[in-house]
Amino acid sequence: MSEPAPRIATQTLPLAERLERLKPSAIREIHNLADRLKLENPGKSVIALHFGEPDLGTPPFIVEAGVAALRNGAVFYENNSGRNDLKAELARYFRERYDLRLTEDNFLITCGGVQAICLSMLGLLAPGDEMINVTPAWPNFTGAAELAGATVHDLPLTFDGAERRYFLDFSALEALAQRCRNLRVVVVNTPSNPTGWVMQGHEKQRILDFCRERGAYLVGDEMYDRIVFDGADQPSFLQMREAGERLVLINGFSKTYAMTGWRLGYLIAEPQLAQRLAQMQEYVTSCAPSMAQVAAITALREGEPFIAESLARYRNLRDIVVERLAAIPGSEFANPGGGFYAFFRHPATEDSVRFCRELLRSAGVVLAPGRAFGGGGEGWVRICFAQRPEILDEAMNRLTQFVSGKI
Ligand SMILES: Cc1ncc(COP(=O)(O)O)c(C=O)c1O
Repeated sequence: MSEPAPRIATQTLPLAERLERLKPSAIREIHNLADRLKLENPGKSVIALHFGEPDLGTPPFIVEAGVAALRNGAVFYENNSGRNDLKAELARYFRERYDLRLTEDNFLITCGGVQAICLSMLGLLAPGDEMINVTPAWPNFTGAAELAGATVHDLPLTFDGAERRYFLDFSALEALAQRCRNLRVVVVNTPSNPTGWVMQGHEKQRILDFCRERGAYLVGDEMYDRIVFDGADQPSFLQMREAGERLVLINGFSKTYAMTGWRLGYLIAEPQLAQRLAQMQEYVTSCAPSMAQVAAITALREGEPFIAESLARYRNLRDIVVERLAAIPGSEFANPGGGFYAFFRHPATEDSVRFCRELLRSAGVVLAPGRAFGGGGEGWVRICFAQRPEILDEAMNRLTQFVSGKI
């Protein structure tokens, strides 16, 4: 009789260190709790405002373009860096919007901004490198940098409660950079998820100069550049770049065109860098989805009325949240200048994860705990207000009652 094949206890095999170091997401934890609660109490009303996506879904003119693309054969692999016709259309869009002269070679089309960020970090950062992340920030910047083996230093924005705004303290940035031995990347997301902070043009210029002087890359995430409420749009980092600039710009279709599930984003960099980063695409997903790329051309060509409508809608929703938060005694927040998030604190939110768990159990509202957003995030909670006004209103009723101890 032959010996039985040895069983491999996979769970005891050591995993790569990069995987061991990954921390679980606090937002995902709340999400899973909400799922469990709904399963156990099928009748319970749960309002989910913890994820960051537009509630209404992709507008029909883009959906139709995607369906037509499938019918017309957009079902094959594409170039690693994306379809040429999409990149040409993006170059046209950036010329008209920002007066920029970009070529197709400046673009790398990716599976969402998530992948653009991940490829940037894997391409720019190695173990031992350091990154400064302006926080509170969407968790993927840190997650991707840590996957690359780098060390991340958070630079919390300063909150001015009287003015209800955030600002970046450049002397704190300077001091933090001085403590870094191998600073390679600085990340700024503006308009910001989760704070709604919008960096002004002169500040963008200053941080770009700062990176240039230190030979560091600036990774600028302008995913919400079409959702800016007050005053003029700010210039893009791209308009300030010099030849050979160490700048990677992240953007995508998810938020502007309500296309989160299509998984389509892009990065913009100097051609040499964009094309080098595209090489990694071969081994990750090989390309972004073909039909989504074709539909995105229609989004860029015909999307301006939709963008204008969405902005008016988000502005109204932002006003509802601001008014309702202001009416809660003890609450503090900055007026969101862009994006579709409000970030607030209250004596009850000191432990943000506990607060979100209890709010969910007692009031059936799911919010994102600030702890997930790095330095300056704990003690705060994020609301995504891209939601129908009556639902948002009901969520704010429940939140108000919960923090005042009525439910
Ligand atoms: C600041 C920021 N950047 C990038 C993304 C990535 O979006 P997607 O991968 O859907 O393009 C998000 C999504 O929440 C975001 O908030």
